[in-house]
Amino acid sequence: MPRPIQAFVHTDALRHNLTRTRAAAPDARVWAVVKANAYGHGIERVFEGLRAADGFALLDLDEAQRIRSLGWRGPVWLLEGVFEARDLELCSRLDLWHTVHCEEQVDMLSRHKTQVPHRIFLKMNSGMNRLGFTPTRFRSAWTRLNQLPQVDEISLVTHFSDADGSAGVAQQMAVFAQATDDLPGERTTCNSAALLRHAADEAVAADWVRPGIALYGSAPDFPEHTMAQWDLQPTLSLRSRLIATQDLQAGDSVGYGSAFTADAPMRMGVVACGYADGYPRHCPTGTPVLVDGVRTRTLGRVSMDMIAVDLTPCPQAGFGSEVTLWGKASQGAVLPIDEVAQAAGTVGYELMCAVSSRVGFTLD
Ligand SMILES: Cc1ncc(COP(=O)(O)O)c(C=O)c1O
Repeated sequence: MPRPIQAFVHTDALRHNLTRTRAAAPDARVWAVVKANAYGHGIERVFEGLRAADGFALLDLDEAQRIRSLGWRGPVWLLEGVFEARDLELCSRLDLWHTVHCEEQVDMLSRHKTQVPHRIFLKMNSGMNRLGFTPTRFRSAWTRLNQLPQVDEISLVTHFSDADGSAGVAQQMAVFAQATDDLPGERTTCNSAALLRHAADEAVAADWVRPGIALYGSAPDFPEHTMAQWDLQPTLSLRSRLIATQDLQAGDSVGYGSAFTADAPMRMGVVACGYADGYPRHCPTGTPVLVDGVRTRTLGRVSMDMIAVDLTPCPQAGFGSEVTLWGKASQGAVLPIDEVAQAAGTVGYELMCAVSSRVGFTLD
């Protein structure tokens, strides 16, 4: 028997979240962002749920190849563009649209031999200061690209640094709009947070939107909004089982470092899940967890293969009881991944991406 821990990918929830994100910008086309192996879900596993998207956006050429192998003939976009000149051959062969964010990528493209010109997303650094041409250098990059026979249509892209917070997108949007005012081409600006929070604003609406995390059922601006408030559903559930129970007396402690001590008699369970499965070691006592669908809390330190949980709210639970670390329990109760991430001092993105290779995945 394998250890009882399993990750479940919920196809219907992916479909629902895609519909939900589309509704937030009904006139825009939707890139489903599936980088990092679809935020840890597995590209092949999310494909069915997201195939109603207008395109797939990702980073790795290997992932682009996998999307094509699934039979997807629509747009595929390399969000960071190419890393070296020979990547352009694969772009030609697989018809990949790609970002150009620096002069080196323009140079590579100018030397590339291709029969079919490439569809380009020219990226502006409007304030994030990661990738892209500054507003003052953007136009000359556009002019240079526009003169290359290797280039077909040029779309314009920028990425917001504060779409999830109080600073918002207005300043970057103004920079982008002003610097691209008279340039032709489609525009794309919105990640999940910008899409859900700002895309209703005419000035922000664009030809394409690029949601990632919202498709996977995590609120991009948690705790200001929850998954439920954005009408998103969990797409990844991490479930395991109790493999032991203990009756603690007042003064008994639990696990490494004796980080939890009972102040009264209580029952606790031991879950087959630890940091080697991708559950964050930084989760303190009190991190929410579901046992048989009933909300309770973790106790003490997370160890490599086990976690302790308080069975006080679920006295019926025993050996073999289902434990939902995040996501949806079999009987339907939901523990948002964002709550577990918050307890660990991180974000849902990191938890999804960190589920380890020893955890088996099941398509639900
Ligand atoms: C350029 C770009 N667009 C869109 C996204 C999707 O962002 P999110 O998952 O926050 O929706 C990302 C992710 O980091 C990105 O880098």
